[in-house]
Amino acid sequence: MSLNNSVNVALIGAGRIGSFHAESVVYRLADANLAAIADPAPGTANQLAEKLGCSFATTDPKTVLSDPDIHAVIIATPARYHSNLVAAAAEAGKAVFCEKPMALTIEEANRAIDAAKSANVPLQVGFNRRWDKAFSEGHEAIANGQVGTPQLLRSLTRDPGPFGADPARIPNWTIFYETLIHDFDTLLWLNIGAKPVEVYAVADALIRPDFKEAGHLDTAVVTIRFDNGAIAVADANFSALYGYDVRGEVFGSEGMVTMGDARRSSMTLFNSQGVSCDTFRLDAHHFLDAYTAQLASFINTVRTGEVKGPGGEDARSALKIALACIQSVKIKAPVSLG
Ligand SMILES: NC(=O)c1ccc[n+]([C@@H]2O[C@H](COP(=O)([O-])OP(=O)(O)OC[C@H]3O[C@@H](n4cnc5c(N)ncnc54)[C@H](O)[C@@H]3O)[C@@H](O)[C@H]2O)c1
Repeated sequence: MSLNNSVNVALIGAGRIGSFHAESVVYRLADANLAAIADPAPGTANQLAEKLGCSFATTDPKTVLSDPDIHAVIIATPARYHSNLVAAAAEAGKAVFCEKPMALTIEEANRAIDAAKSANVPLQVGFNRRWDKAFSEGHEAIANGQVGTPQLLRSLTRDPGPFGADPARIPNWTIFYETLIHDFDTLLWLNIGAKPVEVYAVADALIRPDFKEAGHLDTAVVTIRFDNGAIAVADANFSALYGYDVRGEVFGSEGMVTMGDARRSSMTLFNSQGVSCDTFRLDAHHFLDAYTAQLASFINTVRTGEVKGPGGEDARSALKIALACIQSVKIKAPVSLG
């Protein structure tokens, strides 16, 4: 496309994160235009379109895929629809930004990757931590050799509590497919060039033990061994009462980098209660800049063809670890990655 034109973006899936991305396109990105919103839930696309001044809303995603004026799509539906929508959008010639996880099986991932390759369209996946300032500076320090050879890595996700969702409405294995998938991508990205060789996962229902029988697991610890000898640990829990907490650490032969902070700012209050500070409550607050930067990069990719963000292969690599975790929990033993 011409570098002078604004990129026409369609949102597919106008729920929590989709609405946030749509707001980013409208308010935070200079060279993108929110041209359409599609969501099958009655009224959902219309309401968001009205709020954001978007001129086209539909309940049928196919309508936006067949519109030649749409250059790019943001897919933010529930995960089970992602891979089919990626393939359909690519086949329609649209550049694709897809929220994580891009797919739930390796076959689905391969299909999405192949569709984007055959259509020669960019495919970027929503691993937003790569755009966070602390994580990207950490990655740069590791790439520059400033911590030497990585030996121990950590990544954690604690979703904000109290956990108020109905566990019955959350698909089984969400903790691996949708939460820890971020940590798996982060660890693969930070342990530059290394391949995971073995995964061991332990998971339980500690927040809602009454849903354990039904398979809803809310707490997990994962150990990953890499072919460069490094050992990584990732953990997650769905109810951090102090707020949204994402952190990472890489310890190597020459030093260590730590990344991420639950504290909302460096403001610290000292009073008769003691010393305190506020924390991030939501992912949209913690990663406002990172979410914006990842979409800005995607829009730039659409305009220039220069791909910078994590793509389909990265999504597949993280998915392989999630699938190995599920297997490991089932058999209560480590799983080798071929
Ligand atoms: N990167 C991140 O930090 C981050 C944060 C939140 C969510 N996510 C991911 O984004 C995805 C959506 O999460 P959410 O919390 O916004 O979910 P949500 O349930 O709030 O919203 C999903 C929306 O998609 C719509 N939808 C369902 N089927 C559809 C279809 N076939 N076509 C179009 N729209 C459809 C639903 O009606 C709903 O409005 C999930 O995969 C989730 O893991 C990523």
